[in-house]
Amino acid sequence: MTIEELAYGIPVVSTIASGHIRSIDSNAAEAMPGVLGVLHHGNVGDLFRPAQGFEQNVRASETRPPFEDDVVYYYGQYIALILAETFEQGQAAAAQVKVTYDTSKPIVRMPANPVTDNPPAKKFSRGDTDTAFAQAAVKLDETYTTPVETHNPMEMHATIAVWKNGKFTLYESTQGVVNHHNTICQMLGMPLESVQVISPFVGSGFGCKLFPWPQSLMAAVAARHLDRPVKVSVPRNLMFTTVGHRPYTRQRMKLGATSDGKLVSLSHEVLTHTSMVDDYMENCTEPTGMLYSCPNISAIQHLVHLNVGTPTPMRGPGTTPGLFAIESAMDELAIKLNMDPLELRLKNYAETDEQEKKPFSSKHLRECYQTGAERFGWSKRTPGVGSMRDGNLVLGWGMATSTWPAFSGGAEVHVRLLKDGTARVSCGTQDIGTGTYTVFAQVVSEKTGLPMDKIKVVLGDSSLSPGPMSGGSAATASFLNGLAAACNAAVNMLIQVAIRTDKSPFQGADPKTLKMSAGCLHAADKSPDSGTPFPEILALRKLSGVDGKSNPPPAGGHQEKPSVSSHSFGAQFCEVAYDPGIVQFRVRRWLTVVDGGRIINPKAGGNQITGAVVMGIGMGLFEETIYDTRNGKPVNNNFADYLVATNKDIPKLECIFLNYPDLALNEYGARGIGEIGLTGVASALAMAIYHATGVRVRDLPITIDKLI
Ligand code: MOS
Repeated sequence: MTIEELAYGIPVVSTIASGHIRSIDSNAAEAMPGVLGVLHHGNVGDLFRPAQGFEQNVRASETRPPFEDDVVYYYGQYIALILAETFEQGQAAAAQVKVTYDTSKPIVRMPANPVTDNPPAKKFSRGDTDTAFAQAAVKLDETYTTPVETHNPMEMHATIAVWKNGKFTLYESTQGVVNHHNTICQMLGMPLESVQVISPFVGSGFGCKLFPWPQSLMAAVAARHLDRPVKVSVPRNLMFTTVGHRPYTRQRMKLGATSDGKLVSLSHEVLTHTSMVDDYMENCTEPTGMLYSCPNISAIQHLVHLNVGTPTPMRGPGTTPGLFAIESAMDELAIKLNMDPLELRLKNYAETDEQEKKPFSSKHLRECYQTGAERFGWSKRTPGVGSMRDGNLVLGWGMATSTWPAFSGGAEVHVRLLKDGTARVSCGTQDIGTGTYTVFAQVVSEKTGLPMDKIKVVLGDSSLSPGPMSGGSAATASFLNGLAAACNAAVNMLIQVAIRTDKSPFQGADPKTLKMSAGCLHAADKSPDSGTPFPEILALRKLSGVDGKSNPPPAGGHQEKPSVSSHSFGAQFCEVAYDPGIVQFRVRRWLTVVDGGRIINPKAGGNQITGAVVMGIGMGLFEETIYDTRNGKPVNNNFADYLVATNKDIPKLECIFLNYPDLALNEYGARGIGEIGLTGVASALAMAIYHATGVRVRDLPITIDKLI
């Protein structure tokens, strides 16, 4: 797609992390060739905050609109936008903007003894943890930390805003066209019909594209200001400041157990940060109450405000760092008990959700452990540190539990069977690289018998009927019911046409005796070839097609409080090979077993899990965003210095799905599977590395300096 007359918006960002803008001198920049204007807090006009927390499906990552005032809260905050004919002219001019500040001392890293929120951001408990811990035969009290991690999808954030006849079209890369649309309209102060958000393909997101960021708003304002299309893109270095991150976590775990390994108390105390402007909480205690059977549990989460951009969900938010602490502590407890770590998990297996006091809708974690252990050869493990060898290499084996809550919202899906023998299916959801287009076509094909290439799937447009975000591993589980209902409705409509039309072979037939398969309508007790291709039925009435649609999603997108607790489960098993001579280790084997409900598309699903394990290995070994304490600049804001796992770091990954349908969520029994693959990975690695080296690393990432 080419957009004529496209102008470019180039951000100017703050170089301090805390203070006020004293002056912005853009005279030199404005005199440069190709420069069309400069936007900043002095001239941007009115922008608004979203009614977040009050209305459903309205959420911005950073609720403060850009250029709201002269206050600087973090390094990299947008303070001006240069508008130019070309990208290069804009960049050259941006470098000539002179900004002066009144600077105050920022706090950009978690202090040893920070000022925390009061009351705490989250708190829950059962039983009496303190007494049970005091009386426990075996105790563990350790603190684990995970660093700031930055989302690095290959495709960065960008917006092209087109302003025409009083309406905006925003071309976006977003994990939620519906939410983006609602939120941007509120922040611009415009009615819903004046904005359309289009995002046909997304080059992945991992959470940083769930909710809109300021660049989208800046592009819109700039397009209206210039009365021509404007593109604002977020370069890689700004991905480290302006589109969120997984916050730092410090987690104190206290476990008490009987001498034969039964947990009697579990306390989980969490400290995470948020920005100065938003209360984002990394929900590390999400799994704490339900993961293991234990009579006494307490969980508390504190938030600390730092001079960094607002954190945002990153794949498996909360649970991923949470499980690093819980599962590492379980491994350390197993060592104290002289018990096999897998046996300790089985000993404390939760048959029900003891916190919610509800049965699980479907839980096959025991089978995940057993299948994994068998396949991996876990029984051959010898527990002693450094006791397993392959030539000069020391082998370390690790395992961990995985879990992720199962969400399911709803979706209004439209299906149309068309006179040319094709079907069109549409919904206001999007494909972030997870295979959503394929799953839509698959279900329509299954319901109508049409081949996949006769099915057109239309997604990624806010003007379509409302559909789910691609987040929280909830998209597939959310749209399946609506999709199936829309297919059924379209087929029923076709049947109505067939029985109520002259010259139709089915005129007057009982609708219950008819069926559609292989693209033909036929008697249910006969084969499809005895039937009539559906375009012939449409032709008898000169119809262009028949429609089916499902009901709109319930207000709030989620079902009422269900009577069951729905979670996915899994088990991770890994082997590392450690070369003590040069302090080098490699991950050699990885096996993940997932109980994720019915798997709709094993290929796309398997990709999700193995991709998540790759991200988990990166989390375990490499990823860490480091801020300069003087000015809050992320010093490793590029792919040379911020390391992620590459092909060379990754062994062959194996993923096994158990495939038990969980019918509490939808008629297909599918749960989400995008995030669970990441949970547990880092603690399995820490455990394997301990097994090989005898060094327990409690502070991620596990870099080699921590082993010597
Ligand atoms: Mo996911 S962190 O909900 O994109």
